[in-house]
Amino acid sequence: MQNAIRLGIIGLGTVGTGVARILQHGADQVAARAGGPLEIARVVVNDPTKKREVDIDPAVLGTDALEVIRDPDIPIIVELVGCPGGSVEPARTWLLEALRSGKHVVTANKDVVAKHGTELLRTAGEHGGSLYFEAAVAGGIPIIKAISEALVGNRIDMLMGIINGTTNYMLTKMTQEGAAFGDVLREAQARGYAEADPSSDVEGHDAAYKIAILASLAFETEIAVDAVYREGITRITPEDIRNAAELGYVVKLLAIAKRNGEHVEVRVHPTFIPQSHPLAAVNDAFNAVFVHGDAVGELMFYGRGAGMMPTASAVVADIVDAAHNLRRGVRGRHRINGRRTPILPISQSISRYYINTKVVDRPGVLAAITTAFGDNGVSLESVIQKGRGQDPVSLVFVTHEVQEANLTRALARIAQLAEVREVSNVVRVEGETHGRDY
Ligand code: HSE
Repeated sequence: MQNAIRLGIIGLGTVGTGVARILQHGADQVAARAGGPLEIARVVVNDPTKKREVDIDPAVLGTDALEVIRDPDIPIIVELVGCPGGSVEPARTWLLEALRSGKHVVTANKDVVAKHGTELLRTAGEHGGSLYFEAAVAGGIPIIKAISEALVGNRIDMLMGIINGTTNYMLTKMTQEGAAFGDVLREAQARGYAEADPSSDVEGHDAAYKIAILASLAFETEIAVDAVYREGITRITPEDIRNAAELGYVVKLLAIAKRNGEHVEVRVHPTFIPQSHPLAAVNDAFNAVFVHGDAVGELMFYGRGAGMMPTASAVVADIVDAAHNLRRGVRGRHRINGRRTPILPISQSISRYYINTKVVDRPGVLAAITTAFGDNGVSLESVIQKGRGQDPVSLVFVTHEVQEANLTRALARIAQLAEVREVSNVVRVEGETHGRDY
């Protein structure tokens, strides 16, 4: 019988508890897949006396993360603390310290990987260790392994994902029940999806971190979180959702990464997608990532993006990889290559747009608006007037593809027209993907 590989787990919250359960209940299966047994040798917690939802030998519990990280008999460190209070510390310091001693390091920490991935991977490379982070994006969906292992025969051109469960839950409720943003936010908070401060989810920060990680891997380049263009869902109204349905679309918060010539586009924003698109059927708190590779064509990955056991599923997969690699004396697959592909400024991006305006219902108003569009090179696909006679009425437009800078110029002029009360919303429309119109 081989000696067990000793694991040091930092954090025994929701995900840590799920990981411990799988490692305990599925010990034989995990050992067979890892090429030998694994042992939970040390677990770092804040309060060793707290009652736990998993049976852990009190003798392995401790409170000193650095002591475990520096223990030469623990070759795999599993960091599951996250970023309480929004700070990447102390997680970043712990991960660097473990990597400096050449360890295999597993983390579910999206913030640290998105902000410091290059530093962590460089440190791993310099000291012979490895970093694994499947659980950092889309919980139980194995999208990191898909991109970095299963799809390496492809040039990935595009990734488009619903990678924030909270906002997908909220938009689904708004669509199915006609509910307003504030009401569904309160319900999402009551159900434990949204935090008391919901800005990370509803303003698109969480999705921006995740798409920065996915785009960096898919395009083998370093994408800084700050370079991701980001809009949240706070301006989406029941009226926009009704208009979308009438035009044949649903509204989703999409994270999009595309190659565009020598540039890449990386953005997070509410998007109208055709009701027939595979992503339109992704409802409630589920996540999905739609990928196009030159050889494989279109793929879609669907599943739970958060929660105890789905996230633990991803962490255990990384632990098994780490153990497997350790026994064979090889390193994990994630490397840095120092490449920095330029990001296309959002003003140069090309999209179709939904535009909702509130105007005075008077002859000549539509002509004045369409002239402003036409003068700035914005071609219109459809126009709908909602209401008759009251002040104001809605004029809803969908454009053909246009560069954002042209649209911005047109909208600035439209906003100044005397009959235009307001441009109440502008939402990008995605549709045609690689020759297929959904
Ligand atoms: N808050 C995230 C979501 C899960 O709603 O999907 C953690 O990244």
